[in-house]
Amino acid sequence: MQASKRVDDPTYVIRPYEAADRDGVALVCLRTAAGGGDATGVYSDDTLMPEVFALPYVDYAPDLAFVVSDGRRVLGYVIGVADTAAFIEWWKQKWAPGFAARHPSPGAATGHDPGFTEVQLIEAGTNPERMRIAELDEYPAHLHIDLLPELQGQGFGRRLIDTLRAALAERGVPAVHLGMDAANTGARAFYDRLGFHELPSSRPQEPLLGIETNDTIDTADAATAGE
Ligand SMILES: CC(C)(COP(=O)(O)OP(=O)(O)OC[C@H]1O[C@@H](n2cnc3c(N)ncnc32)[C@H](O)[C@@H]1OP(=O)(O)O)[C@@H](O)C(=O)NCCC(=O)NCCS
Repeated sequence: MQASKRVDDPTYVIRPYEAADRDGVALVCLRTAAGGGDATGVYSDDTLMPEVFALPYVDYAPDLAFVVSDGRRVLGYVIGVADTAAFIEWWKQKWAPGFAARHPSPGAATGHDPGFTEVQLIEAGTNPERMRIAELDEYPAHLHIDLLPELQGQGFGRRLIDTLRAALAERGVPAVHLGMDAANTGARAFYDRLGFHELPSSRPQEPLLGIETNDTIDTADAATAGE
Protein backbone atom coordinates (compact mmCIF):
# COMPACT_ATOMS: atom_id res chain seq x y z
CA MET A 1 0.00 0.00 0.00
CA GLN A 2 1.27 3.46 -0.89
CA ALA A 3 1.83 5.83 2.07
CA SER A 4 -0.49 8.85 1.94
CA LYS A 5 1.11 12.22 1.41
CA ARG A 6 0.38 15.39 3.32
CA VAL A 7 -0.62 17.05 0.07
CA ASP A 8 -3.85 15.02 0.40
CA ASP A 9 -4.38 16.11 4.04
CA PRO A 10 -7.11 18.81 4.12
CA THR A 11 -5.25 20.54 6.98
CA TYR A 12 -2.96 22.01 4.36
CA VAL A 13 -4.23 24.21 1.57
CA ILE A 14 -2.55 25.80 -1.39
CA ARG A 15 -4.14 29.19 -1.86
CA PRO A 16 -3.39 32.57 -3.44
CA TYR A 17 -1.06 34.84 -1.46
CA GLU A 18 -2.63 37.48 0.81
CA ALA A 19 -0.96 40.61 2.21
CA ALA A 20 -1.01 39.09 5.72
CA ASP A 21 1.27 36.28 4.46
CA ARG A 22 4.21 38.63 3.81
CA ASP A 23 6.15 37.95 7.06
CA GLY A 24 5.45 34.22 6.74
CA VAL A 25 6.84 34.16 3.22
CA ALA A 26 9.97 36.01 4.41
CA LEU A 27 10.46 33.46 7.20
CA VAL A 28 10.13 30.46 4.89
CA CYS A 29 12.63 32.11 2.54
CA LEU A 30 15.15 32.59 5.35
CA ARG A 31 14.72 29.05 6.64
CA THR A 32 15.40 27.49 3.24
CA ALA A 33 17.91 29.94 1.75
CA ALA A 34 21.19 28.17 2.54
CA GLY A 35 21.24 25.77 -0.41
CA GLY A 36 17.82 24.53 0.73
CA GLY A 37 18.67 24.65 4.47
CA ASP A 38 18.23 27.23 7.24
CA ALA A 39 20.09 30.51 6.61
CA THR A 40 19.23 32.08 9.97
CA GLY A 41 22.32 33.92 11.25
CA VAL A 42 24.39 33.14 8.16
CA TYR A 43 24.38 36.80 7.09
CA SER A 44 24.70 39.84 9.34
CA ASP A 45 21.02 40.66 8.77
CA ASP A 46 18.31 37.99 8.42
CA THR A 47 16.20 40.36 6.31
CA LEU A 48 18.73 40.30 3.45
CA MET A 49 17.75 36.99 1.83
CA PRO A 50 13.98 37.64 1.85
CA GLU A 51 14.57 41.19 0.58
CA VAL A 52 16.34 39.78 -2.47
CA PHE A 53 14.57 36.48 -3.17
CA ALA A 54 11.03 36.77 -1.80
CA LEU A 55 9.59 40.16 -0.83
CA PRO A 56 10.10 42.01 -4.13
CA TYR A 57 8.11 39.22 -5.81
CA VAL A 58 5.08 39.35 -3.53
CA ASP A 59 5.07 43.15 -3.67
CA TYR A 60 5.38 43.29 -7.46
CA ALA A 61 3.23 40.29 -8.44
CA PRO A 62 1.05 39.17 -5.51
CA ASP A 63 -1.30 37.54 -8.03
CA LEU A 64 1.49 35.13 -9.05
CA ALA A 65 2.26 34.05 -5.49
CA PHE A 66 0.72 30.96 -3.90
CA VAL A 67 1.26 29.69 -0.37
CA VAL A 68 0.82 26.45 1.52
CA SER A 69 -0.95 27.20 4.78
CA ASP A 70 -2.27 25.16 7.67
CA GLY A 71 -4.67 27.97 8.52
CA ARG A 72 -2.25 29.50 11.02
CA ARG A 73 1.00 30.07 9.18
CA VAL A 74 2.75 29.90 5.86
CA LEU A 75 4.73 26.69 5.39
CA GLY A 76 5.76 27.11 1.77
CA TYR A 77 5.28 29.14 -1.37
CA VAL A 78 5.87 29.54 -5.04
CA ILE A 79 6.38 33.11 -6.26
CA GLY A 80 6.96 34.35 -9.76
CA VAL A 81 6.85 37.18 -12.24
CA ALA A 82 5.37 36.86 -15.74
CA ASP A 83 7.68 39.35 -17.43
CA THR A 84 11.21 39.38 -16.02
CA ALA A 85 12.26 42.36 -18.17
CA ALA A 86 9.45 44.51 -16.74
CA PHE A 87 10.31 43.29 -13.24
CA ILE A 88 13.92 44.41 -13.73
CA GLU A 89 12.73 47.94 -14.52
CA TRP A 90 10.37 47.97 -11.53
CA TRP A 91 13.18 46.70 -9.28
CA LYS A 92 15.51 49.50 -10.42
CA GLN A 93 12.95 52.20 -9.73
CA LYS A 94 10.95 50.90 -6.80
CA TRP A 95 13.00 48.29 -4.95
CA ALA A 96 16.73 49.04 -5.31
CA PRO A 97 16.70 52.52 -3.73
CA GLY A 98 15.07 51.35 -0.49
CA PHE A 99 17.16 48.21 -0.43
CA ALA A 100 20.38 50.20 -0.84
CA ALA A 101 19.35 52.55 1.96
CA ARG A 102 18.57 49.65 4.30
CA HIS A 103 21.72 47.72 3.36
CA PRO A 104 24.43 50.23 2.43
CA SER A 105 27.32 47.84 3.07
CA PRO A 106 28.01 44.36 4.47
CA GLY A 107 27.61 44.00 8.23
CA ALA A 108 29.84 42.37 10.81
CA ALA A 109 31.20 38.86 10.16
CA THR A 110 28.90 36.11 11.45
CA GLY A 111 31.38 33.24 11.66
CA HIS A 112 29.70 31.62 8.65
CA ASP A 113 31.37 31.38 5.28
CA PRO A 114 28.58 31.00 2.71
CA GLY A 115 29.45 30.33 -0.93
CA PHE A 116 27.09 33.17 -1.84
CA THR A 117 28.72 35.95 0.17
CA GLU A 118 27.06 38.93 1.81
CA VAL A 119 28.80 41.20 -0.69
CA GLN A 120 27.23 39.21 -3.53
CA LEU A 121 23.84 39.22 -1.80
CA ILE A 122 23.87 43.02 -1.45
CA GLU A 123 24.99 43.31 -5.07
CA ALA A 124 22.05 41.08 -6.07
CA GLY A 125 19.65 43.39 -4.22
CA THR A 126 20.89 46.49 -6.00
CA ASN A 127 21.54 45.09 -9.48
CA PRO A 128 18.48 43.42 -11.01
CA GLU A 129 20.25 43.23 -14.40
CA ARG A 130 21.58 39.86 -13.12
CA MET A 131 18.10 38.53 -14.00
CA ARG A 132 18.39 39.44 -17.70
CA ILE A 133 19.19 35.99 -19.11
CA ALA A 134 19.77 35.39 -22.83
CA GLU A 135 16.60 33.29 -23.14
CA LEU A 136 14.14 35.92 -21.83
CA ASP A 137 12.16 36.11 -25.08
CA GLU A 138 11.32 32.41 -24.94
CA TYR A 139 11.22 32.10 -21.11
CA PRO A 140 9.97 35.51 -19.93
CA ALA A 141 8.70 34.36 -16.52
CA HIS A 142 10.81 33.20 -13.58
CA LEU A 143 10.03 31.68 -10.20
CA HIS A 144 11.24 30.74 -6.73
CA ILE A 145 9.82 27.89 -4.65
CA ASP A 146 10.49 26.96 -1.01
CA LEU A 147 8.91 24.66 1.55
CA LEU A 148 9.74 24.25 5.23
CA PRO A 149 11.39 20.87 5.96
CA GLU A 150 8.24 19.34 7.48
CA LEU A 151 6.40 19.76 4.16
CA GLN A 152 9.17 18.64 1.83
CA GLY A 153 8.76 15.37 -0.06
CA GLN A 154 4.97 15.39 0.42
CA GLY A 155 3.86 16.45 -3.03
CA PHE A 156 3.42 20.18 -2.36
CA GLY A 157 6.31 21.23 -4.56
CA ARG A 158 4.86 19.57 -7.64
CA ARG A 159 1.43 21.01 -6.95
CA LEU A 160 2.79 24.54 -6.38
CA ILE A 161 4.71 24.45 -9.66
CA ASP A 162 1.61 23.17 -11.49
CA THR A 163 -0.43 25.99 -9.91
CA LEU A 164 2.00 28.69 -11.04
CA ARG A 165 2.37 27.19 -14.51
CA ALA A 166 -1.41 27.19 -14.90
CA ALA A 167 -1.63 30.83 -13.74
CA LEU A 168 1.09 31.82 -16.21
CA ALA A 169 -0.49 29.86 -19.06
CA GLU A 170 -3.78 31.64 -18.34
CA ARG A 171 -1.96 34.95 -18.87
CA GLY A 172 -0.53 33.73 -22.16
CA VAL A 173 3.03 33.32 -20.84
CA PRO A 174 4.64 30.45 -22.78
CA ALA A 175 7.45 29.36 -20.47
CA VAL A 176 9.14 29.97 -17.13
CA HIS A 177 12.74 29.69 -15.96
CA LEU A 178 14.69 29.61 -12.71
CA GLY A 179 18.26 29.90 -11.57
CA MET A 180 19.53 27.72 -8.73
CA ASP A 181 22.44 26.86 -6.48
CA ALA A 182 24.36 23.98 -8.09
CA ALA A 183 25.00 22.51 -4.63
CA ASN A 184 21.26 22.04 -4.04
CA THR A 185 21.12 18.52 -5.44
CA GLY A 186 17.72 17.77 -3.90
CA ALA A 187 16.11 20.70 -5.70
CA ARG A 188 17.82 19.69 -8.94
CA ALA A 189 16.38 16.16 -8.67
CA PHE A 190 12.96 17.72 -8.10
CA TYR A 191 13.17 19.99 -11.16
CA ASP A 192 14.47 17.15 -13.33
CA ARG A 193 11.60 14.94 -12.19
CA LEU A 194 9.07 17.63 -13.11
CA GLY A 195 10.50 17.97 -16.62
CA PHE A 196 12.54 21.17 -16.37
CA HIS A 197 15.43 21.25 -18.85
CA GLU A 198 18.70 23.18 -18.97
CA LEU A 199 18.66 26.38 -21.00
CA PRO A 200 21.52 27.10 -23.44
CA SER A 201 23.15 29.67 -21.14
CA SER A 202 23.06 27.31 -18.13
CA ARG A 203 26.47 26.77 -16.51
CA PRO A 204 27.51 23.91 -14.20
CA GLN A 205 28.01 26.31 -11.28
CA GLU A 206 24.93 28.37 -12.11
CA PRO A 207 22.25 26.04 -13.47
CA LEU A 208 19.49 27.74 -15.42
CA LEU A 209 16.40 25.61 -16.01
CA GLY A 210 13.21 26.15 -17.94
CA ILE A 211 9.84 24.57 -18.63
CA GLU A 212 6.85 25.38 -20.81
CA THR A 213 3.75 26.50 -18.92
CA ASN A 214 1.02 24.50 -20.53
CA ASP A 215 2.07 20.91 -21.19
CA THR A 216 1.25 17.93 -18.97
CA ILE A 217 -0.22 20.02 -16.16
CA ASP A 218 -2.59 18.22 -13.86
CA THR A 219 -5.28 20.87 -14.18
CA ALA A 220 -7.55 19.18 -11.62
CA ASP A 221 -4.88 19.73 -8.95
CA ALA A 222 -3.99 23.21 -10.12
CA ALA A 223 -7.59 24.39 -10.34
CA THR A 224 -8.32 23.77 -6.66
CA ALA A 225 -5.61 26.22 -5.62
CA GLY A 226 -7.55 29.27 -6.67
CA GLU A 227 -10.74 28.25 -4.88
C1 LIG B 1 12.83 21.56 -3.72
C2 LIG B 1 11.41 21.52 -3.19
C3 LIG B 1 10.66 22.78 -3.64
C4 LIG B 1 10.68 20.29 -3.78
O1 LIG B 1 9.35 20.25 -3.31
P1 LIG B 1 8.81 18.93 -2.59
O2 LIG B 1 7.44 19.20 -2.12
O3 LIG B 1 9.80 18.49 -1.60
O4 LIG B 1 8.77 17.91 -3.80
P2 LIG B 1 7.54 16.92 -4.15
O5 LIG B 1 7.24 16.09 -2.95
O6 LIG B 1 6.40 17.67 -4.75
O7 LIG B 1 8.22 16.01 -5.26
C5 LIG B 1 7.84 16.05 -6.64
C6 LIG B 1 8.61 14.98 -7.36
O8 LIG B 1 10.01 15.26 -7.31
C7 LIG B 1 10.70 14.18 -6.72
N1 LIG B 1 11.70 14.71 -5.79
C8 LIG B 1 11.54 15.72 -4.93
N2 LIG B 1 12.67 15.92 -4.21
C9 LIG B 1 13.53 14.96 -4.63
C10 LIG B 1 14.85 14.60 -4.26
N3 LIG B 1 15.50 15.27 -3.29
N4 LIG B 1 15.43 13.55 -4.90
C11 LIG B 1 14.77 12.87 -5.86
N5 LIG B 1 13.51 13.17 -6.26
C12 LIG B 1 12.91 14.19 -5.64
C13 LIG B 1 9.68 13.40 -5.93
O9 LIG B 1 10.02 12.04 -5.79
C14 LIG B 1 8.41 13.61 -6.71
O10 LIG B 1 8.27 12.68 -7.73
P3 LIG B 1 6.77 12.16 -8.13
O11 LIG B 1 5.84 13.36 -8.08
O12 LIG B 1 6.93 11.63 -9.51
O13 LIG B 1 6.42 11.15 -7.10
C15 LIG B 1 11.36 21.42 -1.65
O14 LIG B 1 11.94 20.21 -1.24
C16 LIG B 1 12.06 22.57 -0.95
O15 LIG B 1 11.47 23.61 -0.73
N6 LIG B 1 13.33 22.37 -0.56
C17 LIG B 1 14.08 23.39 0.22
C18 LIG B 1 14.20 24.72 -0.48
C19 LIG B 1 14.74 24.59 -1.89
O16 LIG B 1 15.69 23.89 -2.13
N7 LIG B 1 14.08 25.33 -2.80
C20 LIG B 1 14.48 25.35 -4.20
C21 LIG B 1 15.55 26.36 -4.40
S1 LIG B 1 16.13 26.35 -6.09
